[in-house]
Amino acid sequence: MKPLLGTLYLLGMLVPWGLGDARSQAQHKQEAMDKTPWRNLETYPYNRYHPMGEIYQWMSQISEKYTEVVTQHFLGMTYETRPMYYLKISLPSNNHKKIIWMDCGIHAREWIAPAFCQWFVKEILQNYKDNSKIRRFLTKLDFYVLPVFNIDGYIYTWTTDRLWRKSRSSHDNGKCFGTDLNRNFNASWCSIGASKNCQDLTFCGTGPVSEPETKAVASFIEKKKEDIVCFLTMHSYGQLILLPYGYTKNKASNHEELIQVGQKAATALKAKHGTNYKVGSSVDILYATSGSSRDWARDIGIPFSYTFELRDNGTYGFVLPEAQIQATCEESMAAVLSVLGDVYEKYWYSNSAGKRTSATIVLSLFVSFVHLL
Ligand code: ARG
Ligand code: ZN
Repeated sequence: MKPLLGTLYLLGMLVPWGLGDARSQAQHKQEAMDKTPWRNLETYPYNRYHPMGEIYQWMSQISEKYTEVVTQHFLGMTYETRPMYYLKISLPSNNHKKIIWMDCGIHAREWIAPAFCQWFVKEILQNYKDNSKIRRFLTKLDFYVLPVFNIDGYIYTWTTDRLWRKSRSSHDNGKCFGTDLNRNFNASWCSIGASKNCQDLTFCGTGPVSEPETKAVASFIEKKKEDIVCFLTMHSYGQLILLPYGYTKNKASNHEELIQVGQKAATALKAKHGTNYKVGSSVDILYATSGSSRDWARDIGIPFSYTFELRDNGTYGFVLPEAQIQATCEESMAAVLSVLGDVYEKYWYSNSAGKRTSATIVLSLFVSFVHLL
């Protein structure tokens, strides 16, 4: 090696951002190779929390096993240059399908959220062949699932600080770390319930969509927004179904409908294990927040946009015991399926206001016919 090249190479090794891509690939391999306590998908424990390496492996295994319905797609890179992937669940069809978006784990310490995204995918895949309702959904809808939004933060909660919330971007020359990715969206950015001080838990970033993770999701959603009918973002804790808005007391144009669909979901949820949920806008029943993905999604025109705050009510808070994963996922699944059922009915099988019944179609055909005479 020539001396100059040698020096450059050494510099590259020393400066972490110099060889970001090489590092990311090596690191990612390492994380994906982490020893697996499960042999194959059949024994994957959905009632356990999983480190990121296992979730990466789970994603590739699930898309290898269910090739006819699931594909894994690259969404972007995290701040620490880890790849973000979403799973697309889609039955081949000639229909132009609408999209349901679900993300989990935008807040690192809310471990039940990624556990739920995995549960949701598993349930759909195990049941779509025999469950006529899920099959019906899949004739009109594709599901896009991002199991871990804040990958860097999630890994940090496993290695260093179980209660870390934010991403891991560096600010003020390394004085503090992390942006609250759910304050970083372009919805009345940093106007209320968020902080411009990078030491705070709700640091909103240096500008709207300043973070690579937010950028990856926002630009993808923006591209697909005409087709997305429902945006679901999973958090814990508090047992709440939150609808827009967090940044204003103004109501969304379809507020009443959002409340009705939310309440029906809460009823379906309670029927499983008796768990009580509250339904309302974030500013009304939790707190004011600006820059949230839910508000942004509604503002760009996605009609049904909800934040789920899963179990519990504060007994264990973010550190929900693994013993509660199954029940939490079962009841949340019922709630999400209830929302999807309402969305499906509204767009494809409603005979009520705004939709034409066969009688009115016959009538209008008759009127056009008379007109021709
Ligand atoms: N996941 C919530 C958030 O996005 C945290 C809410 C938990 N706090 C509570 N008191 N329920 O900020
Ligand atoms: Zn959260």
